[in-house]
Amino acid sequence: MKKIISSVRLSAALLVLGMSLPSMADKPLMPSNVLTAYQTECASCHMAYPPALLSKSAWQKIMGGLDRHYGADASIDTITQRQIGIWLQTQAGTYKRVEVSSPGERITTTQWFEKKHRKIDKSVWSRQSIKGKAQCQACHTSADIGDFEDERVRIPK
Ligand code: HEC
Ligand code: HEC
Repeated sequence: MKKIISSVRLSAALLVLGMSLPSMADKPLMPSNVLTAYQTECASCHMAYPPALLSKSAWQKIMGGLDRHYGADASIDTITQRQIGIWLQTQAGTYKRVEVSSPGERITTTQWFEKKHRKIDKSVWSRQSIKGKAQCQACHTSADIGDFEDERVRIPK
């Protein structure tokens, strides 16, 4: 009897957290309540990446160096910077093993990224219709909601 109660408690707790164990992998990665400032400030040069794709410390580094942002100047006012930084770090690092390592604070240098995309030829990334690995939405048609399921992939010519 005690066992049953505690397993009921566990499922209730998971429900509260908005997840159930078997379906976790299929859930779109973008939180449903995206911070407005994140959309306006961080989705003009590339898509707004789901926070879950990088670790807390990677987001912290990124937000601390926006004036030298992968060769671009992405600096914003201090208040907005702080607000976005806190939001990203709160939502960080839940996708598979992203917490391991992301050299240069990139999603595209993580081991899982390289593994999942190893079959894609180098020449594909440089296509005019794609413009590099960081442009997830070029191939992942539902990337904006953080849905990277295989069925929604279409590589443009
Ligand atoms: C002025 C343009 C610009 C703005 C604004 C901008 N970025 Fe970027 N970002 C870039 C460029 C350029 C790259 C490198 C893309 C590449 O290598 O193909 C990049 C790359 C990234 C990457 C790494 C992508 C990868 O390769 O895995 C992350 C993460 C990122 N940006 C986060 C942010 C966040 C967070 C913000 C908002 C605070 C932001 N960016 C705003 C230009 C910008
Ligand atoms: C050139 C097109 C292309 C670009 C750009 C691209 N991907 Fe992919 N992605 C693919 C393909 C193709 C697969 C593998 C689909 C398969 O295995 O059938 C894949 C697989 C994935 C998977 C695994 C999905 C699963 O169900 O296992 C994830 C997660 C993913 N990509 C995320 C990203 C992110 C994040 C970015 C941007 C930083 C990105 N991809 C950029 C083409 C692309």
